[in-house]
Amino acid sequence: MSDFKDKVIYQIYTKSFRDSNGDGLGDIRGTIEKLDYLKSLGVDYIWMTPFFKSPLNDNGYDISDYLSIDPVFGSMEDVEELIAQADRRGMGLMFDMVFNHTSTEHEWFQRALAGEKKYQNYYIFRDGSPDAPPTNWESKFGGSAWAWVPALGKWYLHLFDKTQADLNWDNPQVREELKNVLRFWKKKGVKGFRFDVVNLISKPAIFEDDDSGDGRRFYTDGPHVHEYLKELVADAGIGDMVTVGEMSSTSLDNCIRYTNPGEHELSMVFSFHHLKVDYKGGDKWALQPPDFAKLKDIFTKWQIGMQETGGWNALFWCNHDQPRAVSRFGDDKRYWKESAKMLATCIHLLRGTPYIFQGEELGMTNAGYTSISQYRDVESLNYYQIMLQNGTSEAEALEILRQRSRDNGRTPMQWSGAPNAGFSDGTPWIMPPDNFKTINVQMEEQDEDSILNYYKTLIRLRKENPVISDGQIEFLCEDHAGVFAYRRFLDGDELFVYNNLTGKEIVLTDAAWAVHGKKLIGNYEGIQDESNHLVLRPYESIAYRP
Ligand code: GLC
Repeated sequence: MSDFKDKVIYQIYTKSFRDSNGDGLGDIRGTIEKLDYLKSLGVDYIWMTPFFKSPLNDNGYDISDYLSIDPVFGSMEDVEELIAQADRRGMGLMFDMVFNHTSTEHEWFQRALAGEKKYQNYYIFRDGSPDAPPTNWESKFGGSAWAWVPALGKWYLHLFDKTQADLNWDNPQVREELKNVLRFWKKKGVKGFRFDVVNLISKPAIFEDDDSGDGRRFYTDGPHVHEYLKELVADAGIGDMVTVGEMSSTSLDNCIRYTNPGEHELSMVFSFHHLKVDYKGGDKWALQPPDFAKLKDIFTKWQIGMQETGGWNALFWCNHDQPRAVSRFGDDKRYWKESAKMLATCIHLLRGTPYIFQGEELGMTNAGYTSISQYRDVESLNYYQIMLQNGTSEAEALEILRQRSRDNGRTPMQWSGAPNAGFSDGTPWIMPPDNFKTINVQMEEQDEDSILNYYKTLIRLRKENPVISDGQIEFLCEDHAGVFAYRRFLDGDELFVYNNLTGKEIVLTDAAWAVHGKKLIGNYEGIQDESNHLVLRPYESIAYRP
C-alpha cells in the first residue's frame, strides 16, 4: 500500500482549469502551466478528471477510447510531459478510470451494434419488445435506465446517460481489457487512480423490477464487487499505488471492506451521505437547509466506524458533481472568508485523506446563473425538463438548479481579475460568476489572511503533525448541533478542534480548559474566552493543543 495518510490530493476538472489555446476549453497544456501553483499549495497528488477520447456528452465521463487523448484536451505527448513535469516537482498524477460504462461511441459498443456477439457480451443487452423495458429501473440522470436498439431488437442498460452503456463485468474478457488500461497508464508513470462509480460494476444475476425504489438496491455494492476489485488490483499490479473509489449510495460495512489494507482493494473511498443532508426527503431536487445534527451523526458514524476497523476515508466537501461548499454550508456573503476557512478546518483535521477541488482553496462560490441557457450539464438540463413536466414553475426550477446544479462546481478556475477570470483568451464553454474580480488566485496570493493561505497552512500542518495524519479521533459536543468538535490523539499528543457551523456566536460552558490551550490554527485572532467559557464567534474555527 502506498503511504497516503499525510498526503493531500487536489482535484482538477480539466475542462475548466486552464485553457492554453483559446478554444474556451481547459486542456493538458493549460494544466502544465499551472503546476507551479499546485506545488506552492503543497499538494502531493493531482487527480485529473477524464481527458480521454470522448463525445463529451458527460464531459469526458463517456469514454470512447481509454488509451488515447481527446484532441480538445491535447495529445499523448502533452500527457507524457504533464506526468514528467509533475514528477519533477514531486507530485504524482491520478487518472480517472470510468469503468462502469463506456460511451456508446466506443469501438466495443459499435461492434456490438453491428451484430458481433463477442462485443454484445461486453455490455448488458436484453431481448424484448420496444414498449416493455426489462425492468423499471431509472437512470441517475432521469428517465428509464434502458435504451432500445431497434436493429437488434434488444435493450441495453445505462445507469447514467443513454450514451453511457454499462459494461458487463461478469465477462472475464471485459475485466481483462480494463486491467490492460491500468497497466498502460501505470507504465506511463501515473501514480494513482480514481475509479468512477466503481461500486456499481457488479450487477445482479437476475434483473427484476424494483417496487420500492429506482433499482439501485440491486446493483449498489453488487454481488461480486469485492471479488472483481481484488482481481483488478492484483492482476493490474496497482496495489502499491494510491487509489480511491467513488462509491454511490454505499454502506459503511462495504467501505470498510473496500479500504481495509488486509483486503487489498483500494486505498480509500468517497462516500456521499454527508452531502445529502440538504436533500429534502432524500431528493436532490427538493430544497431544505442543511441539517447539521444529521451531518455530525454521519461524520461520527463513518469516522469511528472506519477507525475501529482499519478503514480509510477520503475527506471532501466539493467535487465536480457538487455545489460549492461555502455557498451550501457556509455564508458566501457576510461570512464568506470565515465560513470557507471553517469548512476547510472541519475536513482537513479529520482522520482520512483530504481532497481539495479546484477553486475551493479560494472560496469559489456557486455560479449564480439566472437563465437555463447558462447551464451545460446533462443532468441539470434533463432535470429542468422533468421538473417543468411535473408542474414546477420555471422560477422554482431555476432556483433549484441555482442551488443544486453540478455546473456550480464546473465554472472556470478563477486565476485573476482579467477577462474570463484568466481562464481563457477565448469564449469559455461555461461562464464564471461575476465575483472572479475579487475572488481569484492573484489577489489571494498577495493577501496573507486569504483563504488560499489558510489552505496552505492546513496542508503544511498535516505534514508536520502526526496527530493529524495518524492520530485517533473522538467526537465532542455531540448534543450541540451548531458545533462540530473533535479530539485527535496520538502517543500523548492531543489536538482539540472546534468549528462553529452557524453565523451566531456560541458559548461553550464545558470547554473551560480551552483558555490554557496553545493555538495551532484558527480563522479569528486569538482565543476568546469569558469567565472560563469558550466563546465561538460566527463560523469560528479553532484547533489547539491543551
Ligand atoms: C460520477 C462522476 C460524474 C459522472 C458519473 C457517470 O459520478 O463523478 O461526473 O457523471 O459518474 O460517469
